Amino acid sequence: MSPTLTAYVNGQFMPLDAATIHIEDRGFQFADGIYEVVACLDGHFLDLDAHLARLQRSCEAVQIPLPCSLDDMADLIQQTYERNPYSDAMVYVQITRGVAPRSHLPHHQLTPTLIITSRHLPQPSDEKVATGVKGITLQDIRWKHCEIKSIALLASVMGKQEAHARGADEAFWLNEQGHVLEGCSTNILAIIDGVLVTHPLDRQVLGGITRNMAIAVAKVHAMHVEERPWTLDEVGISEMMMSSTTNAVMPITTLNEKAVGDGKAGVQSLQIRRWMIEEMERLRAA
Ligand SMILES: Cc1ncc(COP(=O)(O)O)c(C=O)c1O
Repeated sequence: MSPTLTAYVNGQFMPLDAATIHIEDRGFQFADGIYEVVACLDGHFLDLDAHLARLQRSCEAVQIPLPCSLDDMADLIQQTYERNPYSDAMVYVQITRGVAPRSHLPHHQLTPTLIITSRHLPQPSDEKVATGVKGITLQDIRWKHCEIKSIALLASVMGKQEAHARGADEAFWLNEQGHVLEGCSTNILAIIDGVLVTHPLDRQVLGGITRNMAIAVAKVHAMHVEERPWTLDEVGISEMMMSSTTNAVMPITTLNEKAVGDGKAGVQSLQIRRWMIEEMERLRAA
């Protein structure tokens, strides 16, 4: 029997299966909302403050008032985690502008909708880490504010479908200059001439919390890091990896059906992953 899950919906905890929102919620009608995902390991949240700060930035960017203070949000996230059966969990927070008769322009200040759910955070098997993931590249068809963690994810869904249809795990977006931006739900980093390279933070990419963590551990261990645009035809690319809350860092071994580097999980990608896992284990044991 599958466990009973609990969702937080607008002030109440309730069984997930019974949780509903109004059909005129602007999240449903217009994808007028933002979200956040934070990992919890044995009761310890990974970079919760950074996730809450990004949640606040996303709300501000689309002018949705935060439904509660960040301290209260942290408390609700904690409670949702505790009311669900997973010790390793990914907790999803979604905030929409609220419920109103359908009209593009929100006519007055609405009460935002807030839902929080908790799901099991799966860990990839050692074999999957060693094999690495397969990627494809696609021309970026998304909007021009990818720094906002918007719930409008149709382009990402289409990208994932295309990747799946082509036997790959993730699709990575290229802009018109051929710059490698990020994946549908991941950031992408490369090792180029021994340097860890990733696209700089601008409106073309989400400022991934895991991307920041990867950069931070690399710098701590004296690895050279460059945040700059990069393209697939650069000489000296030996490795690629993707980062996200749900994956930490995973090596990319195949891109567009061609081997990345020697086609094996990159040594430095695996090293960065290990450093990150060590930090997570320290957090777990704290
Ligand atoms: C487009 C996009 N880029 C990057 C990421 C990775 O962000 P984070 O490391 O904060 O999970 C995500 C996560 O959902 C994403 O959707």
